[in-house]
Amino acid sequence: MNNYPNGLLFSPEIMKQVQEKFLYIDEDKFSGKRLFFDNAGGSFRLKTIGQTFAELDAIPDCPERIHKMALYLQDVQKKGEDDIRLILNAPENGSIIPSLTASQVMFQMVGTIAENVPGTNMVTTVLEHPSAFDAVEYYAKKTGREMRVAMSNPVTGGVDPEKIAELIDENTVLLSCMYASNITGAIYDIKEIIRQARAKKPDLFIVVDCVQHAPHGVIDLMETPVDAINFAPYKYFGYRGSGIGWVSERVAKMPHHKLSGNKENVWELGSPAPAQYASISLIVDYVCWLGSKYIESTDRRTLFVEGMERIKLQERALLYRMLEGTEKLPGIRHIKGLKVYLDYEDLTKRDFIFSIGFDNLGYTQAVREYEKRGVIVYDRLASSIYSKRMLDSFGMDGAVRVSPLHCNTVEDIDEFLRVTNELVKL
Ligand SMILES: Cc1ncc(COP(=O)(O)O)c(C=O)c1O
Repeated sequence: MNNYPNGLLFSPEIMKQVQEKFLYIDEDKFSGKRLFFDNAGGSFRLKTIGQTFAELDAIPDCPERIHKMALYLQDVQKKGEDDIRLILNAPENGSIIPSLTASQVMFQMVGTIAENVPGTNMVTTVLEHPSAFDAVEYYAKKTGREMRVAMSNPVTGGVDPEKIAELIDENTVLLSCMYASNITGAIYDIKEIIRQARAKKPDLFIVVDCVQHAPHGVIDLMETPVDAINFAPYKYFGYRGSGIGWVSERVAKMPHHKLSGNKENVWELGSPAPAQYASISLIVDYVCWLGSKYIESTDRRTLFVEGMERIKLQERALLYRMLEGTEKLPGIRHIKGLKVYLDYEDLTKRDFIFSIGFDNLGYTQAVREYEKRGVIVYDRLASSIYSKRMLDSFGMDGAVRVSPLHCNTVEDIDEFLRVTNELVKL
């Protein structure tokens, strides 16, 4: 699929069908007609999820019983668990961790490894979301380990495998790094990171935050074996109130928070929520439906991979149009008075998310001006705990972050460019 360095758009028919599957695609109750370009803060939701969630959550029965309804709810959960493994292409013998947020899962996974693996240092990268960075910091302090932080690359907007590997030695307890940056969109070279890191310590425990990347590309734990990974359905066409983790067998069996009577590898703690599991299955159903528009297969993972690859190509094509524009409408790379930060040339190494700044407007002011014109974006400020460390690493004082989704159209991109061309003239 990297045969399309500038991406490949959905056909108009597929685009139309995709758009019909999402809620609030072009309007909300306060803005009326609007462009929603803050999907990295919570993505467009699938219509099917709303309906099914309400139906399942309305059922009072506890799934942990033996009557028909309970058995039905158990089946829903089992399918959701299978689909979590399918999304990750995860080995059967690992364990799934359901939780309220991806941050909670991250602290649980890092804490368990930190408390059970010997060593003197823990390694992470400067671009991590606070949930991952602070989990390493907290447990390094708590367990008396040195914390080592790999610096970013201002050209790619990511972190180089070499910079990570040089911090790892035989005393490294764990490496925690993200799959893609939620500020720059840079996709980390996870395969190479794993290769170089495990060349330093073959049995190294590796934790990956996949919250940003999961809705934009294929994850394959068979190809990139790690010990712990998480994602968040609410940034992946689903609902808030759920964060999902998966841990390898060797982590699953470590002492962790659990009910004593349960098997050593059980991480579920408390009553299961079947509606949350059903949401995951509906996300997979949707991506498979998209895949089935391009290939025929009876294998769900094959269809899912095709669907994710098509999402990636559509998003890359939209990103290319955003950057380059058209003959009549300059793209963001060509608008005078606008800066595109960390604009790495190779779009195959980028998720559909980018940061810009105006010569004539502050970041928050720009967000307000966009809103007045029906465009929702997000200001990343150095005063925010969610941005400061990452911005500092690039010597930036802030940015306007823009994160559309594959279900946006070329017309949406052009409208954004039209508005942006207007804002530079204010
Ligand atoms: C890259 C990344 N990791 C982790 C998180 C945390 O997710 P949650 O809010 O579900 O805890 C976020 C949320 O913004 C994120 O962007």
